[in-house]
Amino acid sequence: MKTKIAVSVLSADFAKLGEEVALLNEADIIHLDIMDGHYVPNLSYGYPLVRCFRKLTDKPLDAHLMVTNPDEFIDELAEIGVQYISFHQETVYHSHRLVQKIKSHGIKAGIALNPATPVSTLEDILPDLDFVLVMSVNPGYSAQKFIPSAIAKIKALSKIRKERNLNFEIEIDGGVTDQNAATLREAGASMLVSASYIFSSDNYTDSIKKLRGI
Ligand code: DX5
Ligand code: ZN
Repeated sequence: MKTKIAVSVLSADFAKLGEEVALLNEADIIHLDIMDGHYVPNLSYGYPLVRCFRKLTDKPLDAHLMVTNPDEFIDELAEIGVQYISFHQETVYHSHRLVQKIKSHGIKAGIALNPATPVSTLEDILPDLDFVLVMSVNPGYSAQKFIPSAIAKIKALSKIRKERNLNFEIEIDGGVTDQNAATLREAGASMLVSASYIFSSDNYTDSIKKLRGI
């Protein structure tokens, strides 16, 4: 699968959002971390900002829901026009129903696994998923240290995908840099999320290319 770089704008300078997004030409996807201050300790942004990103770019928007009630966000995000939505496995009783609801809008559906949540919890729902989001930090903040056990998780998902002839993508999120990108791609991740590595660099285009391995 072709590697896609999903730039998380959580580390962008919000005082000059238009300029920041304009510098992300090389990105494949814009990753939006939506945090509610309950499921995770941090608060990020909601619909007004998502609408703003929708106006600023034609690139696919990837809404990563770190909220206790993801079900309530789907219709409005669909109306705004996002292309991917993921929610955390622990936040819903009926993940199968929620996946179908996301897909009914023509949006790609994913489930996020925290560092402590095993791949086995997805066994029965994998055929329904467009992607699995493997968290390599505890959700809530950018610029945290990469947790290496995520690599084994990517490999396990890759193996299952092959054995069961499935075609979900694997997205990796948290602490992704030019130092670990090749390992993550080789393990089977095809969507690499990155915030602080990109926004702390002098040249976003070059940094994105490095993650892609070119
Ligand atoms: C963490 C978010 C990540 C975060 C990544 O809860 O889901 O998307 O912005 O930031 P970096 O790349 O700095 O680890
Ligand atoms: Zn994220």
